[in-house]
Amino acid sequence: MRKPVIAGNWKMYKTLSDSVETALALKPLVANANHCDVVIAPVFTALKTVCDRLEGSNIKVSAQDCSTEKEEGAHTGEVAAFMLRDVGASHVIVGHSERRQFYGDTDATVNRKTQAGLAAGLIVIMCVGETLEQREAGIAQNVVSGQIIGGLSGLTASDLDRIIVAYEPVWAIGTGRTATPEQAQEMHAFIRRVFAERHSSDAAQALRILYGGSVKPDNIAGLMAQGDIDGALVGGASLKADSFARIVNYRV
Ligand code: PGA
Repeated sequence: MRKPVIAGNWKMYKTLSDSVETALALKPLVANANHCDVVIAPVFTALKTVCDRLEGSNIKVSAQDCSTEKEEGAHTGEVAAFMLRDVGASHVIVGHSERRQFYGDTDATVNRKTQAGLAAGLIVIMCVGETLEQREAGIAQNVVSGQIIGGLSGLTASDLDRIIVAYEPVWAIGTGRTATPEQAQEMHAFIRRVFAERHSSDAAQALRILYGGSVKPDNIAGLMAQGDIDGALVGGASLKADSFARIVNYRV
């Protein structure tokens, strides 16, 4: 059985005090959520304090990105994966579509970030997803399989249990337009097939594939009812503790 993951991506929202406030408000609301892994991803500057304040809770903390470089060095503005781990993060998101679209991430850099995250002992949430134009051109699966193969190349079998894939169709992110549960399921099943061909069917069966893109308390149950949807990466609806807690506590 794959344990679901409900992860909140706070993007570039919240000061340090707002981040701590939301994290502390969330803590009691999800304290009984043993059916899934609960993850929040605050901005870099809030990571250490949020990790400290959540110590001993069932909420795990993720960074939203990391450097392609594994070692410290002259890389102005970058934060290495091992530094994230050093302040208590357990997860890192790589390849989010906003980073691919606006900050130059490519499958090659996403692969290096994935490798860096794994080397640091982090669980890597690698995001993939097609744009509206690509979907309408009928190439959504080609795009996503290219991102999976490119992003995860060179991994060993033992790396794979620390990989989580998030399928986030770009046209559904922040738009209020969710993929239907059936559209999401179709792509998730496809991703699992690509993973099986590339790695092994055991690894594919164990892989957790999250859906992301306008996930809300009122659509999570329909998504989670699909056989290949193992959780969600939530943006907007994760910013408030009560709405994120309602997603965590979805129960099918
Ligand atoms: P959204 O964002 O839930 O606001 O659509 C999802 C994401 O970007 O991870």
